[in-house]
Amino acid sequence: MEHVPTQLLPATPEHIALAAEVLRRGGLVAFPTETVYGLGANALDADAVARIFAAKERPAADPLIVHLSGAEQLPLVARHVSPLGQALAEAFWPGPLTLVLPKQPQVPAAVTAGLDTVAVRVPDHPVAQALLRAAGVPVAAPSANRFGRTSPTTAQHVWHDLRGRIEMILDGGPTPVGVESTVVDASASPVRILRPGGVTAEMLEAVVGPVTVEQRAVEEGGAHGLPSPGLLRTHYAPRAELVLYRGRRALNALRTDLAAALAAGRRPGVLAMDAEAEALAAPGALVYRLGADLEAAAQRLYAGMRWLDGQGVDVILACDVAGGGLGLALRDRLSRAASRVVIAD
Ligand code: TXA
Ligand code: MG
Repeated sequence: MEHVPTQLLPATPEHIALAAEVLRRGGLVAFPTETVYGLGANALDADAVARIFAAKERPAADPLIVHLSGAEQLPLVARHVSPLGQALAEAFWPGPLTLVLPKQPQVPAAVTAGLDTVAVRVPDHPVAQALLRAAGVPVAAPSANRFGRTSPTTAQHVWHDLRGRIEMILDGGPTPVGVESTVVDASASPVRILRPGGVTAEMLEAVVGPVTVEQRAVEEGGAHGLPSPGLLRTHYAPRAELVLYRGRRALNALRTDLAAALAAGRRPGVLAMDAEAEALAAPGALVYRLGADLEAAAQRLYAGMRWLDGQGVDVILACDVAGGGLGLALRDRLSRAASRVVIAD
């Protein structure tokens, strides 16, 4: 791949103006959103969009999300918005909600992987907002990680994955939500969640009534025929093998396996909520605390996986997360990251 010098810059107004210029000229800029860092290109420039796929090593069959500065830009990329979609946009934009809508012909096929729909959102982050306004064009942006790795929640994560492949990274600090946006098909009734995320099912239901959640994982082994081609099972994986513990006796089973791994001279790491981390403290075990509540856990999940990877662990043991709200998105990401699930009832 062609080597591109990467500038890592604090997201000052001057650097945001520079980044907007890079986008307008067909370059690639990673920037913070409220969910995770995105890797942006002018969504109406097919060559620029092609470079996103190359930089990430992302399969062309996985479509991108188009970011707008506001709903008033919708006609640039979408042909039509259903009344339910309209209600959701009004309730949650700017914010971590992505709507799948019928696409405008001027959106290049590369953005939507040839689908006749386009995924769109208006991010709620001051740097993303300022960049989108300054660029003046819709910006296609997947998460700014190498394909198959966990999404980046800091500029350093982006640097680690994409330096030498993109023109610029705007550093706006750690992202506040920490898991990706909720992807919703609002042309269906009831509204269908294709990917759980920062806007919870309960929040959606308060606006549009009962919603359904797409549970069809890619156990069948391919993205073909899936409603959301990004739902690959290993989409959010750390480098180390991740084993997920589920069920009433999950904590016990994890503790037993942790002791066995340590005794065998392995180097295990643990991901656990604060309350469970207490019970798992063992000499020699690296325990990453996800925090006391689901909001903290969402913010820290990907950073935790990357941190444990950086510590050179050979296996990550994780306790499944309970609860509604962000619990749904957390369980989704954990089960996609897992190479094995242990059910202990
Ligand atoms: O929070 C987020 O959504 C972040 C930030 C950067 O905005 N972006 C993100 O993008 O997570 P990405 O590319 O990693 O995930 C995009 C998701 C994938 O699951 C993809 O399949 C789905 O959106 N998607 C995109 N276009 C679609 C379409 N036309 N129909 C159904 N699903 C679509
Ligand atoms: Mg992604």
